[in-house]
Amino acid sequence: MKWLYKNVLVVVTLLFCLLSPSLADISLPEPQTDGGMGLFQALKERASAPGGDFPSAPLSMEDLSTILWSATGLNRGEKGWTVPMTNGLPPYVYICVALDSGVYRFDWSANALIEVSKDDIRDKIGAQRFVASAPCGLILISSAEGLETFKDDGLKKEFAAVAVGAMTQDIYLASAALNVGARYIHSIKFAETKSLLGIPDGDEIICLMILGR
Ligand SMILES: Cc1cc2nc3c(=O)[nH]c(=O)nc-3n(C[C@H](O)[C@H](O)[C@H](O)COP(=O)(O)O)c2cc1C
Repeated sequence: MKWLYKNVLVVVTLLFCLLSPSLADISLPEPQTDGGMGLFQALKERASAPGGDFPSAPLSMEDLSTILWSATGLNRGEKGWTVPMTNGLPPYVYICVALDSGVYRFDWSANALIEVSKDDIRDKIGAQRFVASAPCGLILISSAEGLETFKDDGLKKEFAAVAVGAMTQDIYLASAALNVGARYIHSIKFAETKSLLGIPDGDEIICLMILGR
């Protein structure tokens, strides 16, 4: 009986290790999808937080989860996102999240942050000094694989840009509703950031949004 108990315990532990994300990944809390500030109030409050005096306190994981959900979260079952994607394709712009604890890729299907690296890269990615002290950076990247059905490079760029426009506006609005400071940044050290993230050839960094409280 003891032997059986021991073996069942080993099997359960192994299954748990196989099925749960590795320890460095972060399971995000459920995003806030009800209540809160109304849309029209958020539209009135949407603004970029000043770069020179950017909010320096970190966001809670709940706020980060809600902001990421607003950018590419599922809002209708298994196929339907908070932003429009051509032909209803899964999001072909993905988000890497730079925190002091490392860099993660947002997995919208699992609502989790998948570890990319343990390095704090926030002081290496922006061309402006204040980016280094922003508690969180969301790097928006177009995926070559996600856009592979399209043969025309101009069309790929256009569709990715439209997605980024919708995503960043949602990020601004959700941030306004949560009282989180946000700023769109184009002045990125593109080549260095690409190499730090180790993203595949063909994937392109489009912008960075910095967040802080
Ligand atoms: C396409 C685009 C690129 C931007 N790039 C930068 C940037 O590199 N650095 C920065 O500090 N702000 C950047 N911004 C933020 C703008 O400066 C800001 O949105 C503008 O001053 C208007 O302010 P508002 O967002 O509060 O309306 C960018 C905004 C957009 C839309």
